Amino acid sequence: METNRIPFLDLVTPHQELKDELVAVFAHALDTAGFIGGPMVEDFERSFAKFCNTQNCVGVGSGTDALRFALIAAGVKPGDVVVTVPNTFIATTEAITQAGATPDFVDIDESTYTMDPGRLRKYLQTDCVVDGTTGRVFNKMVGRPVTAVVPVHLYGQAADMDPILDLAGRFDLRVIEDACQAHGAEYFSKRLGRWLKVGSMGRAAAFSFYPGKNLGGCGEAGAVTTNDGDIARRIRMLRDHGQSQKYFHDIEGYNGRLDSIQAGILHVKLRHLARWNERRRECASRYQSFLGLADGAMKLPIEPSWSKGVFHLYVVQVKNREGLQKRLGEVGIGTGIHYPVSLHMQKAYRHLGYGEGDFPEAEKAASQILSLPMYPGLTYAQQDRIAQHVLDFVDAEASSRVLVAPRAVSLNSHRG
Ligand SMILES: Cc1ncc(COP(=O)(O)O)c(C=O)c1O
Repeated sequence: METNRIPFLDLVTPHQELKDELVAVFAHALDTAGFIGGPMVEDFERSFAKFCNTQNCVGVGSGTDALRFALIAAGVKPGDVVVTVPNTFIATTEAITQAGATPDFVDIDESTYTMDPGRLRKYLQTDCVVDGTTGRVFNKMVGRPVTAVVPVHLYGQAADMDPILDLAGRFDLRVIEDACQAHGAEYFSKRLGRWLKVGSMGRAAAFSFYPGKNLGGCGEAGAVTTNDGDIARRIRMLRDHGQSQKYFHDIEGYNGRLDSIQAGILHVKLRHLARWNERRRECASRYQSFLGLADGAMKLPIEPSWSKGVFHLYVVQVKNREGLQKRLGEVGIGTGIHYPVSLHMQKAYRHLGYGEGDFPEAEKAASQILSLPMYPGLTYAQQDRIAQHVLDFVDAEASSRVLVAPRAVSLNSHRG
C-alpha cells in the first residue's frame, strides 16, 4: 500500500488557507449576536445574485429547501406531476414530493449525463395529452397535470437549456433549475446568442452550499436565484414561517433560513470561486489528456460547445468500475460513485411503478460511472499518480485479453 493518500475530496486545506477570514466572520457574529438574518445574509445574497447574473437571491437552509421553496413559489400544487431525470441526488425528487407533486422521469443524454431534450419532447408528445379547453398538459397514465420540469446541471455541467426552455414555453411548464452542483457553470444560448450563467435561465434555480460543493459553507446552506420578484418574495416568506412581518403569517411556511455565520463564510469563499472553478477546469483538461491515452477503454466527460462546466465532479465510465475503484483504493486514491442506483430503481420510488430497462442511459451510467478526485488543490503530482494508476489498470484489463505493453504517462509535473 502506498502511503501518500490522495483523498477523494480535500476540505481541510482550503479552510486552513482561509482560516483567519473565516474565524473573523465567526467573531463578528459573536460580537454582534447577529445569528439569523441581518446584513451578513443580505450582503451575501446581493453578491451571489450578481455572480449568477440574476435580480434576486434568497438564502435558505439547504439545497433541498431551495428546490422545495422554488417549486412551491413557482406555483407547483399538490397533485401535479413534475418531470426530472433519474440520475440525480434524491433531494431533487424529495423536494418535488415535499411540494405535494409526484416526480416523473425522462432519461439522460448518454454523453452529457443531463436531461435529454429529445426524450422530454417525446414524453410530452407521447405520454401526455393537452386538454383542448384549458391548454394544460396531463400525464395520460396518472391523469394529472404536468406543471414543471427540473433539469439538473449535474457534475457541474449545464443541461441543454435552449430546447428545454422551448418545450417548457410550448407546454406551459415552469422550469426550476437544479444548480446544486454547478455554481458558476455557463451555457451558450443560441436563442439569445450569448453565454448565460447557470441559475439565471429558469423561473428559479436552486443552489446547495453543502461543504463539498464548489461553493460550500461550514455546515448546511442553500439559495434560490430568480429574476421573478414575486417568486423571491414568496420564498422569503416560505423560509420564515410564512411571515411577511414578524408574527404576521400570510401563509404557513417552514423554518428554512440561511444563518448569518454561513452567509458570512460563503461571502468570503465567493471571492475565490471563479479562481477555484478555473483550477477545476484545468484539472479536468489534464485528466482529459492523460486518460485519453486509454484508447477508448474508458469514457471521459464530454463538454459540448454550448457548455462551460465547473467540474464539481470528474466522472469516467469503465466496464469494470468495481475493479478500478478497488485498485485505486488499494493504492490510497479515494473515489466516489454519483450515483450507484438510478432513482427509478430506488426502494423509495417503487410506488412509481418503474423497473429495469425503463431509463437505459441512466441505468448504464449508474453501473459504470466512477468519480475521480477533483478539487482546486489537487496537485499536478497527485493527478499524474492517479492517471498512471488508472492507465495501468486499463492496460492490465486489456492485457488479460490481448498482450499490450504498459505505457508511462508523459506529464509536465512541475506543480505541487
Ligand atoms: C443535484 C443535487 N440536488 C439537490 C441537492 C440537495 O442539496 P442539500 O444537500 O444542500 O440539501 C444536492 C446536494 O447534494 C445535489 O447534488
